[in-house]
Amino acid sequence: MPRAHRKDEHIYYIMQNAPHQADFSDISLVHNCLPDQDFGRVSLEAAYLGRTFRSPLFINAVTGGTRLALKINAALADVARQCGLPMAVGSQMAAIEDISAEASFKVVRRVNPGGVIWANIGSYAAPEIALKAIKMIKADGLQVHLNAPQELLMTDGDRNFEGMIGRIGKIAANADVPVIAKEVGFGIAREQAGILAGLKVAAIDVGGRGGTNFLAIESSRSGRKLPADLSAWGIPTAISLVEAAAGAGEKTDLFASGGMHTALDIAKALALGAGAVGMAGYPVYHLLKYGSKALVKKIDRIENELRIILMLAGAKKPAEMQKVPLVITGHTAEWMQRRGLGPDTFARRPGLVN
Ligand SMILES: Cc1cc2nc3c(=O)[nH]c(=O)nc-3n(C[C@H](O)[C@H](O)[C@H](O)COP(=O)(O)O)c2cc1C
Repeated sequence: MPRAHRKDEHIYYIMQNAPHQADFSDISLVHNCLPDQDFGRVSLEAAYLGRTFRSPLFINAVTGGTRLALKINAALADVARQCGLPMAVGSQMAAIEDISAEASFKVVRRVNPGGVIWANIGSYAAPEIALKAIKMIKADGLQVHLNAPQELLMTDGDRNFEGMIGRIGKIAANADVPVIAKEVGFGIAREQAGILAGLKVAAIDVGGRGGTNFLAIESSRSGRKLPADLSAWGIPTAISLVEAAAGAGEKTDLFASGGMHTALDIAKALALGAGAVGMAGYPVYHLLKYGSKALVKKIDRIENELRIILMLAGAKKPAEMQKVPLVITGHTAEWMQRRGLGPDTFARRPGLVN
């Protein structure tokens, strides 16, 4: 099946059910009853990839390559413009293989000429292809997606991943914009985060389990039923954040994605170490079901609620959430203990003194 048609089928399956939300129920933020600060001065400004953004939110990679993709990308780009959020396009391989597909990606730059836009390719792409993808949309950053489980479940997916680490390293060394290594819903563990940080990617987007599930989507597309335990493969988003933070060190930005829908989950992700938070399935579902005005309102609401939560935790900006104590229980705490990731150090943070 041509790559572009696959993209439309992904949209079709995303619209069959309301998007899943990641499970952050093991994580509790500790209330601060003395938030000795002016709510009017609580800011959502977030610094990552060497610049400052008005919010930690971004619209993650979804689509490109077809007429439907062009419409979706144009609408998402307009929402990104109105909300002042960065936005990634979907995999540009369709346009690398067939130049007539370029318009469905370039539309994003046309609709939002001054916006922050990220290009997107797979880890199978050669460094020259990465440069082409960046140039195509005058991108401010490049996402390299990691999606081995999805490829293996696709009848026409990739089977040979040999050399991917070397290629990512070359892409990161040659790109003239920051490179973001991203999973697409299976998470990133400490060990691989360490390798990616060593390759000098600018950011790691954990793309954890709990939101869009490409194993379920690919098994629906192929008509081959997947055992329930296998369709739950992957590292949940909250755990993956702790894993990746431990592996990546301080020089690599950390992004949370995978089922991020609510302000409270976003605040918890920030407290676990995320510098920015991406959403893909949720915005595209809302856009197609309720329209772009409703999506803009939804993003506004999430941002307002996020400011309230920051205030109640005693934080003046998203980065300060990393100082807020949070109690981690249940399966997440047990995982962290077994992996030597000390849930108690989070619970015993001194907190913020205003
Ligand atoms: C319809 C759809 C298509 C996607 N296509 C791409 C893609 O082309 N490239 C990519 O890196 N990620 C792609 N993703 C993955 C998302 O960027 C994201 O990593 C993943 O869906 C988890 O986030 P979510 O739970 O917010 O959807 C796609 C997601 C959706 C919903």
